[in-house]
Amino acid sequence: MNNLVQYTKDNDVAVITIDNPPVNALSPGVPEGIAEAIAKVNDDPDVKAAVVIGAGRTFVAGADIREFGKLTSGKPRGAGLLPLLLSIEDCKKPVVMAIHGTAFGGGLELAMAGHYRVAAADAQVGQPEVKLGLIPGAAGTQRLPRLAGVVKALEMCSEGKPISAAEALKFGVIDRLVEGDLLKGAAAFAREVTGKPARKTRERSEKLGTAGQNAGPIESARENARRKQRGFQAPLAAIDAVEAATNLPFEEGCRVERKLFDECLFSDQSKALIHVFFGERAVAKIPDIPKDTPVFPIRRAAVVGAGTMGGGIAMVFANADIPVLLKEVDQSALDQGVAKIRKNYASSVERGRLTQKEMDERLGLIIPTTGYDKFGEVDMVVEAVFEGMVLKKQVFQELDRICKPGAILATNTSTLSIDTIASVVARPDVVIGTHFFSPANVMRLLEIVRGKETSKEVIATCMQLSRKLGKIAVLVGNCRGFVGNRMFGPYRREAQFLVEEGASVEAVDRALVEFGMAMGPLSTGDLAGLDVGWRIRKEYRDLEKPGVRKPIAEDRLCEMGRFGQKTQAGWYRYDENRRAIPDPEVGALVRKWSAEAGIAQREQIAAAEIVERCVYALVNEGARILEEGYALRAVDIDMIYLNGYGFPAYRGGPMWYADTVGLKKVYERVCEFREAHGELWEPAPLLKQLAVNHDTFAHFQKDAVTA
Ligand code: NAI
Repeated sequence: MNNLVQYTKDNDVAVITIDNPPVNALSPGVPEGIAEAIAKVNDDPDVKAAVVIGAGRTFVAGADIREFGKLTSGKPRGAGLLPLLLSIEDCKKPVVMAIHGTAFGGGLELAMAGHYRVAAADAQVGQPEVKLGLIPGAAGTQRLPRLAGVVKALEMCSEGKPISAAEALKFGVIDRLVEGDLLKGAAAFAREVTGKPARKTRERSEKLGTAGQNAGPIESARENARRKQRGFQAPLAAIDAVEAATNLPFEEGCRVERKLFDECLFSDQSKALIHVFFGERAVAKIPDIPKDTPVFPIRRAAVVGAGTMGGGIAMVFANADIPVLLKEVDQSALDQGVAKIRKNYASSVERGRLTQKEMDERLGLIIPTTGYDKFGEVDMVVEAVFEGMVLKKQVFQELDRICKPGAILATNTSTLSIDTIASVVARPDVVIGTHFFSPANVMRLLEIVRGKETSKEVIATCMQLSRKLGKIAVLVGNCRGFVGNRMFGPYRREAQFLVEEGASVEAVDRALVEFGMAMGPLSTGDLAGLDVGWRIRKEYRDLEKPGVRKPIAEDRLCEMGRFGQKTQAGWYRYDENRRAIPDPEVGALVRKWSAEAGIAQREQIAAAEIVERCVYALVNEGARILEEGYALRAVDIDMIYLNGYGFPAYRGGPMWYADTVGLKKVYERVCEFREAHGELWEPAPLLKQLAVNHDTFAHFQKDAVTA
């Protein structure tokens, strides 16, 4: 036997221990080891039953995700785990699977091939393959409905959410919860069932239901998947596979599953989602800030400004159990801010996401104040006052005077320079940008902005803290708009240009929603408030290059008081429930303004062109950012877009998407746009270089973020 699987005996019970740290993944060698052990169980006359258990902190937590990539390398594939699972099921003696930690994916498929399953109370089981754009590939979709019933199997395989041991017991996925020592409990269970006829999961059918019973749940699972996981292919494939379990014999069902699994495996979606899986981990690695960089504990925090962002940020701290001071200019602004927080929490309680007790505890951690009195005690301050340099400087001077040495002074600014803000304090090394996204208590993204003087310890602390706050943090450099908003500018610019050239507002939004964006670019403007950009443009007017085309409609809409949802009119009109209603007046106005400005109009613009114009504008700016070093890697940009801007995960992010299309093709299209629309479409040098060399963004990496 190899050293990944150990075979020992507890009197008449064989103990097969899978020992492949850290998570006992089914890497090469593990299935072979289990097969050998099962053969021994069959051959050993003294052994009456077997227990399969994981060493360390978990049962088999899943397949080895890195192996999926290799499977698509073109080499012919073997039959995978299926023969092993059949051999376990065919073992002449009962095999009891003992689950602790997590039995996910291949881990649950392995467990279901045993005759019985017992689990520790805090164990979890699941088929999360859809999260990687895949479906279970070793009969998971065939055995799970036989154990848990069709409805539960549909849900688990198409949504990918794990269930607790208690729920698994309720649905028959496991047979017993074990208190205390799992191995002892499993061995005792094995002895109880010794000599009794052991049932093979694949031969069970009592929970498979009839065609009449299954039709409804299968259809509603499909509807759910189309609605809640719009654009994702794998959930629908998983449902097809479970359906096969209900109307085909086991072996044939396995063949259907296999075919669907292969289709998913070779799809761009699963490659993109696997990129996302590793991407979320990759962004935490910063080449010039080693893992052992000292970090400071953040035990108490403070937020300045209880507006839209400040209130949300205070909630983020409270949700992570960190007491937080919340400062406003006066009592009435403070009361308003706190009322909004209370309303937010109350609506979570109403929806059953939070208990009243939890709400009270969290509110108790937020300490409203109108003064800086207790700021001397906090380890970190996040400033979220109005966007204006004079005010920000004042606040930071105040913080510099009051805060204790070492306290982190962070700003939530979205457009101002971190270095200019840092220039007014005597300790610029503790100044950093923590750019939350709205609503701050909901959105996962946090751009951490590195200033020229920001110390490595402060960066490492914020990166680590973000995990505790439930955020995915991406380190970016201090350029205008940082990474996300800097790219969003050209993206929204093109959306507006397209309308000015003759596309309807709805056509532009629809094309991008069909591409997979959570919202269209014009609706997004209405949601955020068109006046925000208008004010910024007025402030930066002197930076505009004369003679370069700029969008005209949005400023004019603002001049008319159409700020978006907040004024019930922007690109769309809005009813009292904030539902968008197309507004023909806007179309007519934009046509008039465009004609006056001499912009050529077209009857119609194809959805494909709308997508290319908007998404390649993102990509071209992303390439510049990458080359200039304001993002470390393309994957950092991808994670920003997925978690902060509603870019579809199944496309991997804008840079990954461009790699998938092929950079040569993207570059050529950008050159065509340059011909047709002028210098705003100048191809980024890096895009050109990679296209010419048949290279990808994914290969390109900087050693440090440009501060
Ligand atoms: P807001 O206008 O909703 O809130 C700002 C609050 O700061 C107001 O309640 C104001 O009374 C308060 N304030 C002003 N001076 C203060 C002082 N000296 N002490 C305490 N409180 C003071 O603004 P919002 O939208 O929350 O923006 C705050 C910051 O976050 C800005 O820098 C903005 O650029 C940035 N940001 C905004 C986003 C958004 O979607 N609204 C997204 C990301 C960043």
